[in-house]
Amino acid sequence: RAEHTAKTLALSEVMTKACEYYRGQLRGSERAIQYLKGRGLTGEIAARFGLGYAPDAWDSLRSVFQDYQDPALAESGMVIDKSDDAGAHRKRYDRFRDRVMFPIRNTKGQVIGFGGRILDQGEPKYLNSPETPLYQKGLELYGLFEARQAIRDAGYVLVTEGYMDVVALAQLGFPQAVATLGTACTPTHVQKLLRQTDQVIFSFDGDAAGRRAARRALDACLSQVNDSKVIKFLFLPVEHDPDSYVRAYGAEAFEQEVRDAMPLSQFFIREVTGENDLGTAEGRAKTQFEAKPLLQQMTPSALRLQLVRSLASITQSTPGEIESLFELSQPVAR
Ligand code: UTP
Ligand code: MN
Ligand code: MN
Ligand code: MN
Ligand code: MN
Repeated sequence: RAEHTAKTLALSEVMTKACEYYRGQLRGSERAIQYLKGRGLTGEIAARFGLGYAPDAWDSLRSVFQDYQDPALAESGMVIDKSDDAGAHRKRYDRFRDRVMFPIRNTKGQVIGFGGRILDQGEPKYLNSPETPLYQKGLELYGLFEARQAIRDAGYVLVTEGYMDVVALAQLGFPQAVATLGTACTPTHVQKLLRQTDQVIFSFDGDAAGRRAARRALDACLSQVNDSKVIKFLFLPVEHDPDSYVRAYGAEAFEQEVRDAMPLSQFFIREVTGENDLGTAEGRAKTQFEAKPLLQQMTPSALRLQLVRSLASITQSTPGEIESLFELSQPVAR
């Protein structure tokens, strides 16, 4: 246990030092500054989020850490150890090179990871820190530390997919935004958010991946929601994400989208209905079949009852019939 504590302290120190270094490098890189300006970001917002720049070199962190071979550097994910063919000679290099750096903080404000965006075209567009003892992706939300007070003031949190969405929304008047960071939204994410606020509004990209993310967020919410909470889904036009939308149409238009966001109950019915033809017994049965695993995740609540009633109504059933259908769960083994 003592060993574990010592290790995480060292990791935290590595991340803090790296973050400070990258911030300094951003001040010295006209190219990275121009990139961020080109995306409409001000120096003030870059400073608020601690944005930085990782230089275009294989071992720039050598100038930051006395011992570039320190095992903590590899454990932190900031360097990568590459073995040669014989597996004997180890060559170490910086993970992040020539990228705009977004530090990821935990709720205490400690830097626990980074996302790095390429400045030009190229793959991958974003490179992320690996999971470490400090950083577990299913638990952390980008921007939550920075957004905490704004979430309280607004009375809701916006959940987006990306680093740029969070930073751009903050600059354009919506500092109450966080991002799930390339992973699906988990029940733990939802639980963490519902500890901060009574209203969560998911605002993913308008493309197919964003729609899938919304569906997965719905799944993640069902086990966490209760009657004092409100969950909504904001669907953007297919070609937009929150960053591009707010820049194209302005804060007023986005504010209107927030007001028009779809309540979970409505999204739930839309998802379970899908393409099913409710004019046929088969379509209604399939709809009930789709709804079953979702409703089974929910603890008894007034909201659950409302969902059951809506489902009953569109499938020409009664709430009692829906519930009794759910009790006959497994087919009897013969
Ligand atoms: P997007 O591709 O929608 O990125 O991925 P974005 O934030 O809109 O990027 P910009 O506007 O082109 O800069 C959404 C999120 O998914 C993760 C990142 O967290 C990104 O912000 N992602 C995406 C990766 O981790 N790796 C990738 O290669 C791409
Ligand atoms: Mn997601
Ligand atoms: Mn996307
Ligand atoms: Mn984007
Ligand atoms: Mn996007």
